[in-house]
Amino acid sequence: MDLRLKGKSVLVTGGSKGIGLACAKAFVAEGCRVHIAARDKDRLAQAARTLGGDVKTHSVDLRDGAALKNLAQDCGDVDILVNNAGDIPGGTIETLDEAKWRHAWELKVFGFINLTRELYPRLKSRKGVIVNGRTRDSRTSPRRSGAAMRSMACASSACTRLPPARTASSR
Ligand SMILES: NC(=O)c1ccc[n+]([C@@H]2O[C@H](COP(=O)([O-])OP(=O)(O)OC[C@H]3O[C@@H](n4cnc5c(N)ncnc54)[C@H](OP(=O)(O)O)[C@@H]3O)[C@@H](O)[C@H]2O)c1
Repeated sequence: MDLRLKGKSVLVTGGSKGIGLACAKAFVAEGCRVHIAARDKDRLAQAARTLGGDVKTHSVDLRDGAALKNLAQDCGDVDILVNNAGDIPGGTIETLDEAKWRHAWELKVFGFINLTRELYPRLKSRKGVIVNGRTRDSRTSPRRSGAAMRSMACASSACTRLPPARTASSR
């Protein structure tokens, strides 16, 4: 498929496995220059080998504000930001305590917002795109989605409503 993305630069957070790695694969196939960010260096290296193409790896904990700023600086050429990294715990309002809840939000909400804020001026000037990977909305699967997931979905929506050049949101 030619999505006319050849030569674009893309940053995929959580790009070392799962949905993020699949996204990175698709961007490489389109001829993009791809940055993938996650914590585990070995898994990132393995992902880069699997992907081939023009791929740079960034070992970073996106809950760490200083590391996040460094990542934004290292990816100064980005046209497309895919906010995907997440490690949402399963559970309900009865089983998730505040510490777990805040820990999850630190990445999936503030990590998204803070990285977007860092890259936004550049994305805006390059008419870039921001894609936010959202948590499944409990309206679509009420049995499996707990209170935490529902809240994450709402918070991610709020992040999506930042006024960027263009945003997209996966469900
Ligand atoms: N799977 C689903 O059914 C589903 C449905 C809806 C939405 N989602 C959302 O889609 C996203 C990806 O899901 P997935 O199933 O592909 O997850 P996954 O396979 O567990 O991959 C998560 C990725 O995020 C990275 N990551 C986790 N914590 C990080 C941190 N603190 N800093 C930087 N990177 C971090 C992981 O690498 P490291 O551990 O090495 O850091 C990994 O690359 C998540 O945000 C999830 O909430 C998933």
